[in-house]
This record gives sequence, structure tokens and C-alpha cells, in this order.
Amino acid sequence: MKIIKAKNAGFCFGVKRAMKLALEAAANNEKNIYSLGPLIHNPQEVELLSQKGVHVTSDLKSLGPGDVLIIRSHGTTPMVLEEARAKGVNIVDATCPFVVKAQKVAKQLSDEGYQVVIVGESNHPEVIGIRGFVGKDAWVVEKSEEIEFFPDKPRMGIIAQTTQSFENFQGVVCAVLEKTSELKAVNTICNATAYRQIEAMELTKNVDVMIVIGGRNSANTTRLAELCGQSGIPTHHVETAKELETSWLESKEKIGVTAGASTPDWIIKEVIDRLKILGVERKNS
Ligand code: F3S
Repeated sequence: MKIIKAKNAGFCFGVKRAMKLALEAAANNEKNIYSLGPLIHNPQEVELLSQKGVHVTSDLKSLGPGDVLIIRSHGTTPMVLEEARAKGVNIVDATCPFVVKAQKVAKQLSDEGYQVVIVGESNHPEVIGIRGFVGKDAWVVEKSEEIEFFPDKPRMGIIAQTTQSFENFQGVVCAVLEKTSELKAVNTICNATAYRQIEAMELTKNVDVMIVIGGRNSANTTRLAELCGQSGIPTHHVETAKELETSWLESKEKIGVTAGASTPDWIIKEVIDRLKILGVERKNS
């Protein structure tokens, strides 16, 4: 039995950076360290962070002077940052640089008088953060069909949530063109997600079964598993090695493994080690 791991499995650049900053804060023995929302979409890693002293908070109410607040890779609104500073909280800003770019572009478009359109999910923390840099007037749309419900504007500027697919962004850009005489579109998509998906799809062509590792609360892992499944190859989404089943490997010679952007290396390693054991057991049975 052969196990083939995708090259881009696991932490993306932004998540790696956020984890590094959080662990550095913990190592510096800062007393009360909180991340605003779970630092990453992986329950096992969030639990490990909590054991190291990095806890999760959903708001700033309980924070006081000297506490440390880690802003996760999704970023947050300028209002939250101001509130934290006013309370004397030390901010460790782990906003992914790609998200910072989207925030800056959105603000600049708004300052220049464009009606800002953000292509993304209105309830996603990244989009809420970007919108905070523009104000309530920014429109958020997920699909091109939604644009028809908005009025025409003379000048419009459009950006994307970093994890959007290029095709969807392109579709909304075309729809927005019909609403305005001047359109400025800035592609703020991060390619890490697309590369990971393309690579996983390539892998499905060479294997008999795919194992996709990551939190069930991680949208990018779930999407990765969906795409692999759509290729026709049996696909199993697991959070940890404990969930692997021997029956999945029956009459399978090549096993493909990939993982979402918030899956730590140690979980990927545990899954691969367990797969090897199951492979040996299957051979000896
Ligand atoms: Fe940043 Fe892209 Fe990851 S936006 S957090 S590097 S998926």
C-alpha cells in the first residue's frame, strides 16, 4: 500500500504566521492571552493552544489593561482594535497580509468615492472585518444574481473575500458592470486555497481513495472533501486518526492524503502513521 501526501496539505502561510505569533506570546509568559474567536478552525489545535495559555474569547468585555489580544488571520474591524486599545489591551495582530490588502483596498475605494462591493459571505469574520474599514454602505454579495436587487451607482469598486473562487468573482464583476459606468475591480483572492484544491484534484487521478484531514467546522476542508468526492474517488473527511476505518482501505493500493489550511502537521502525521499501521494489519490478515 502506498500513501501519497499532497504537497500543500495543512497550514497556509497566514495560519502558520498566526500560530507562530500566538505561541511566541505564550512563550513570553504573558499572563492573560486571548484570541478573538478560535485562532484556527481546528478543535484539537485550539485545545492545545488553550493548554499553552492561549484562550478563546468572543468579545472584549472581560479583558483589562495588560491582557493580550491576538487578532486571528481573518482580521477584525477598526472599531474592535480601537476598543481594545482604549482598554489598555496589548494587541498582537495576526491578520493575514492578504486580508490586510483587501481591507486597505476596500478603504481606499471608499475614500475615492466608489460604491464598494465585497464578494463573499456576509457573516464571515473576514468580511465583517473588511466591511468595518468601509462602513455600513459597503454591499456584500455571494452570487452574481444578488446584484440585481441593488440600485445603479455611477462609480463602483469591487473586491473579493480572500477564499472566493475566481469564477464566482468574475461572475459578480460582470453583473456589476451592468449597474455602473465606471468600475474598478481589484482581485484580492488568495491563491493558497485554489492551489490546494487543484493539487488535491490532481492527486485523485492517481489514487484509489482520498483521506481529507481537518476540522468539520473548517469551510475550506469541507470544500476540499466535497471536490475530491465529486471526482468519483471514495473520499473520507476525518478530524483525527481515531476516525480511520480499516474497511476504507480494502482492495485499495494507493491512498491520497490532503488537509485543510488549518490542519496542524502533527494531526496529518498521526493520520499517516495510523494508515501505515492499518495497511500492515490488512496485509497480515
Ligand atoms: Fe491568508 Fe490565504 Fe491563508 S488569505 S490565511 S494565506 S488562505
